[in-house]
This record gives sequence, structure tokens and C-alpha cells, in this order.
Amino acid sequence: MTVHFIGAGPGSADLLTLRGRDLIAASRVCLYAGSLVPEAVLGHCPQGARIVNTAPMDLDGIMDEIRTAHDAGHDVARLHSGDLSVWSAMGEQIRRLENLGIPYSVTPGVPSFAAAAAALGAELTLPGIAQSVVLTRTPGRASSMPERESLAAFGATGATLAIHLSIQNLSRVVEDLVPHYGADCPVAIVWRASWPDQRIVRARLETIEAEIGQGIERTALIFVGRALGASDFSESRLYAADYDRRYRPQSSESRWANWTAGDD
Ligand SMILES: C[S@@+](CC[C@H](N)C(=O)[O-])C[C@H]1O[C@@H](n2cnc3c(N)ncnc32)[C@H](O)[C@@H]1O
Repeated sequence: MTVHFIGAGPGSADLLTLRGRDLIAASRVCLYAGSLVPEAVLGHCPQGARIVNTAPMDLDGIMDEIRTAHDAGHDVARLHSGDLSVWSAMGEQIRRLENLGIPYSVTPGVPSFAAAAAALGAELTLPGIAQSVVLTRTPGRASSMPERESLAAFGATGATLAIHLSIQNLSRVVEDLVPHYGADCPVAIVWRASWPDQRIVRARLETIEAEIGQGIERTALIFVGRALGASDFSESRLYAADYDRRYRPQSSESRWANWTAGDD
């Protein structure tokens, strides 16, 4: 018996890995975080599977479900939205499983920041403008932030910020970031990326609060950074005609070096 943690993706049912789909189909029990995991993903559960929405449960209740499945020898598909490496509460479940000696596996999913960037058609790292993406959040009712992880501290780097769990703190985000990025810095908000009712708002730090309109709450990502919508960036060296690299050697010396190293 194994508990399979599976990243269920950002919303669209076809943004699930093939491995995730197959593990769901092979598990007699499915526990899913119902606030964000799309119902359509549950269509992969086998006939007669026990399917439980864990949104209204506490950690003890979830562990009771897992223990019952363990005693019956049934695999569990444990679904969380997006990918499991960020804000999934997987860490505390794994700690309990390890204490109980219950085996588990982890299958990654498409994170919401990647789905939201895809919706924007945006590369978040552009040569000469931003080469880092910070996945972060602002404090919430249930979660404080470590002191040094402030938006201002990340903003001082000029990196592209992908700010999660923070749409309710938009004014604070603007206030904290204007001194670092400038009031005219591009902002994009993607609400429910990859869901059929997905919405996108593009603006600048100084205008985003006026532009956002009604109805964008909870499941939204805020991107801030000069890479958004930039067109005056340099081309990467990777595809430059004169760039000498292993797969496209430009000189007889490089070809010889590759050949002597055994490369094709
Ligand atoms: C509890 S976190 C889960 C993050 C998830 N593990 C991931 O990989 O993206 C929930 C937050 O992720 C973001 N989020 C999740 N799904 C989203 C989507 N489809 N569109 C936009 N933002 C999303 C929102 O900021 C939301 O408040």
C-alpha cells in the first residue's frame, strides 16, 4: 500500500501528467483538496473508488482516512492543486506518514505560475531584464511570513515576482513594490488560469487597482516585473548564428574537441 501524492495541475483536467492519471486510475481511494482540484480529474478514479473531498477536514481526519486505507491494503491517490512543491501542505502529511511507517510517492504537477505565464504567452526570464523568478506570497490569516522574506526584499532584486495567495492584499503589494520597480512597472493578474472562465488583467503598478474590476478574488496570481510585456530585450546567445556550442560547433577546433570527447 502506498500514498501517492499527485500534483493535479492548475485547473484544466488535461494539465495532469500521464503518471498522475495512471496512479489515480490504479488507486482504490482518492483524497482530493476540493477547493482547487477540478472535479474532472476525479473522472480517472476507478469504478467504486472511495473519493473524499478533504477541504472540510483537519489533518487528523485526513490521516484517519489514510490509516483506514492502509489497514485495508488500498493505495491512496492524494491530490493537491498545481504542483506539490509549493503551498500544498504535503510536508506535514509526509512527516506523519514517515512516523507511521506508511510508504508514499510524489508525482509533480503543472504549477499555477506556469499555467498563468502560459495564459499570458510570457517568458518570465528575458535576457538583460530578469533572470530569476521569485515564487512568493504575502501574509495571510493562517500564515505569517518569515521576517526576511518581505516583498520589498525580493523587489530589491528586480526579479520577476509571481505572487500567490495575495489578491486580497493588492494595495499592499502595490505600496511595497512601487519604490523598487517604479509606478509604471507592468503587472499582470491571471485569475483561474486554465479554467474555462480564466481572466487576465494587464496594467501598471499605478493603475492595477483601478483596472482590476469586480469578481477577481482568491484563485489569482499577480506577476510584477519589467520582463512582462517587454520587447526591447536582447536575443539569447543560445541561438545566435556565431555562438559556438557543443551541438552547433562553429570552428574546426570545436568540432575536433567534440569528436575527441566522443560526441556525435
Ligand atoms: C494553496 S496555493 C496552491 C499552489 C499550487 N500548489 C501551485 O503549484 O500553484 C493557492 C494559490 O495558488 C494560486 N493558484 C492556484 N491555482 C491557480 C490558477 N488556476 N490560476 C491562478 N492562480 C492559481 C493562487 O495564488 C492561489 O491563491
